[in-house]
Order: sequence, then C-alpha cells, then structure tokens
Amino acid sequence: MHKKIKVIHGPNLNMLGIREPEIYGHETLADLEAYIIKEATRLNFEVSCFQSNSEGAIIDEIQSCYNTFHGIILNAGAYTHYSYAIRDAISSVMIPCVEVHLSNILEREDFRHISVIEPVCIKQIMGLGKEGYALALNVLKEKLC
Ligand code: DQA
Repeated sequence: MHKKIKVIHGPNLNMLGIREPEIYGHETLADLEAYIIKEATRLNFEVSCFQSNSEGAIIDEIQSCYNTFHGIILNAGAYTHYSYAIRDAISSVMIPCVEVHLSNILEREDFRHISVIEPVCIKQIMGLGKEGYALALNVLKEKLC
C-alpha cells in the first residue's frame, strides 16, 4: 500500500511566479506541485496538494487528513508566524508534519523568525526553494517506511 502524503500551501502561495520573484523565483504553484508529485511518485508515495488563503480552510484540510493521510508537508505562508489554530490542528491529528519554506525565514524580517508551528513538526526546512519539498518527502520516507 502506498503511503499518502498531503501537501498544504497557505496564503499567497497561489501567487508564486508573480509574487516577489526575487525571493520566490519565477515558477508557479502549478510548477511546484508538478515537481512535488514527480518526486513523491519516485518515492512511491501517493500525494495530494491543497492551497488556501484562508486559515479555517487550512485547518479543515488538516483535520480531514486524520485517519486518511500518513504524512503532511505544510508551507503555511505568513500563518506560520502567528497561527496557534493551525498549530493546534497539526497536534490534533497526530500525523507527522514537515514544515517547509521556500525562502530562509531567518534571514528576512524579524516577524518571520518565529514559527509557532515548528514545535509540533518533526522537521523544519527553509531556504532551499523547491528542493526543500523533495527533502521533506525524504524525511517522511525515513519516518514512515
Ligand atoms: C514562506 C515564508 C513566509 O514568511 C511568507 O509569509 C510566505 C512564504 C516561504 O515559503 O518562504 O508566504 O512561507
């Protein structure tokens, strides 16, 4: 049986390709998801991707993974820095979660240095662009297989 991984993107990540290309590059979210699906397939994972700008929708999606998905990869965008509700959703479902950021949040503005979700994730990956997602899949492979 293939292990199932949910990839969740938060606010403004639907604007990849347009949004601050000097930070996030020129690839779109569709490009990024195609890369993640390719890497996940190579690792024998079944993967599904989700994006929302809304905190509640992200929480609903995390909750819907309970008993259905084996791992979560989460780039919560700016919610990373203050959403205790998303943090609580991750700890509620008891599914290993890897936090990913395209940019290096520690080298940017002070408000980005804090991640309130980091303590409930098994790993935090930042600053590697799309390769961070391949690394996250490999972390979940180690954990789950
Ligand atoms: C981000 C970093 C966050 O600080 C920012 O709000 C984002 C993207 C990243 O992938 O580098 O939306 O999570």
